[in-house]
Amino acid sequence: MSVLSTKAWAPATIANLNVGFDGLGCALNAPGETIVATWNPNGQGLTITEITGAAGLSLNPSENVAGVAALSLMKALGIRGGVSLKIEKQILPGSGIGSSAASAAAAVVAIDGLFNGGLRPDELLPFALDGEALASGSRHADNVAPALMGGLVLCPPEGRPRALKVPGDWAITVVHPQVVIKTSEARGVLPKMVPFEDAINQARWFATFVSACADGDEESAGFALEDLLVTPHRSALIPGFEELRKLAFDRGARAGGISGSGPSTFWIGRGEEWKAASWAAEFYAQRGITAHVYPTEISTKGAQIIA
Ligand code: HSE
Repeated sequence: MSVLSTKAWAPATIANLNVGFDGLGCALNAPGETIVATWNPNGQGLTITEITGAAGLSLNPSENVAGVAALSLMKALGIRGGVSLKIEKQILPGSGIGSSAASAAAAVVAIDGLFNGGLRPDELLPFALDGEALASGSRHADNVAPALMGGLVLCPPEGRPRALKVPGDWAITVVHPQVVIKTSEARGVLPKMVPFEDAINQARWFATFVSACADGDEESAGFALEDLLVTPHRSALIPGFEELRKLAFDRGARAGGISGSGPSTFWIGRGEEWKAASWAAEFYAQRGITAHVYPTEISTKGAQIIA
């Protein structure tokens, strides 16, 4: 009996981007992660045979983000027979650059490819969100939607995610200090109520950003990336955040802040020199903290079959 396999890749993502908590995210061209899905018609149900690159993740499909997303899509597609997943993590869980979203997106794309489901990225979104919800306790799509669609994506409270025009050639330095912040914990420090004035001004910044993207006005888009609602509550969770922010802007950053729920931060500048900057790793090394620095940019590529 034949056994078929697909290998899917999904990108890391930055969610929130300061102005769009739970409503805005972008795909990055690096890092990314892969999942191999294999069909065994004589088998039964879903198994996860191997997870490489990260410790402590469950091999039980119903306790694993990729497993839950895959199971959800398999159920919808009415798949009989056995499927096994091999997960190659390259984005550490708890890093703030969409580790769980990349797993969920790669899983649904691998299953869809394996069974010729032919679903569009936005049609795969609800199944991937089932997986994401396991990790973060909430069905926000701001990592999963860009992981599936690529690019810069706006996620309205209801309805389909919308692709935004990327306003310019931004070079992004993602800085990941090696501490783990769980999304559920980072959501736990947020207030239930915010001052009316802050809510209004945040809406003005978000609207300005979206409008500047549509106009291709890179400078105004960067200037609009202000966060009055979330960063003030989460910054204390990120080692050295205020000093790092000051250093980044002194060095020429045009915008930046906390990536998703942290601890990663993102700093937007221009040119290869900015992306490859060593200042961030040095900043953390001086404080005895190891940090991974990813020189990257917004990628138009979403999750896809690579083999
Ligand atoms: N919008 C989410 C948050 C992204 O910041 O909590 C992380 O999953």
